[in-house]
Amino acid sequence: MTFDLSPIDKAKFAAAKRAADYVEDGMRVGLGTGSTAAWLVKCLGEMVRNDGLRIKGVPTSSRTAQLAREAGIEVISLDEAKWLDLTIDGADEYDSNLNLIKGGGGAHLQEKIVATASDQMVVIADIGKQVETLGAFPLPVEVIPFGWQTTKTLLEETLIGMDVLGRMTTLRMNGDHPFITDEGNHIIDLHLNRIGNARQLSLVLNQIPGVVENGLFIDICDVIVIGHGDGRVEVRDINHGTVEESQIEFLETDNLFSDL
Ligand code: 5RP
Repeated sequence: MTFDLSPIDKAKFAAAKRAADYVEDGMRVGLGTGSTAAWLVKCLGEMVRNDGLRIKGVPTSSRTAQLAREAGIEVISLDEAKWLDLTIDGADEYDSNLNLIKGGGGAHLQEKIVATASDQMVVIADIGKQVETLGAFPLPVEVIPFGWQTTKTLLEETLIGMDVLGRMTTLRMNGDHPFITDEGNHIIDLHLNRIGNARQLSLVLNQIPGVVENGLFIDICDVIVIGHGDGRVEVRDINHGTVEESQIEFLETDNLFSDL
């Protein structure tokens, strides 16, 4: 039941529900990964089943692909779609320019490819993800398993010349084993605390051999939908310079909550 949801989950749901308004009949839609994106997939699934919405979804992870199929959304690959009308995804941090840190769920490689292949990227997040300067959330860097320890050392050496406050790096684990991404790679998290120049850091990190992609999304997000625990939603559009507010009502009868 909705009333049993935590304020953060209510905020995530509110953002997802409002962002679903961006989806129109016939669209090819990139489907993000994570708990906020999961709410979106549920909302879209309900629109497909109840309102006859016809969309093709391109998931950004195997987890989202499974969720989308279960929700009744037609799933296609990015190669089949080639280009997307819209991608809706979560984020770990966003700043006032709508630059992001993503990859907390380990899916930022596919997420960045899919978002970049879209006319528009809409990010859904709870207000707690807002920061003045990116970097409190550890920055994920996907690296290939071959020579990952050397890549980790190169990352640390590279950080010496960068405008960051911390330089510790850790291999992401899944229990006793290294975390493995959908592409079979590892993730090294960079504990930077504060990133002075995110654009520069993103370019430099991707020059290191062994690095596949970092979790900085610079100039990719067009719109952010920010949810609050009381159902208030704020929509900021960076291209149009607009800010809109609305209210999402939580209905206890909503089918979305039946499996909680
Ligand atoms: C996954 C991501 C997610 O969008 C990010 O971690 C936010 O997740 P959540 O919505 O669960 O807070 O980048 O790689």
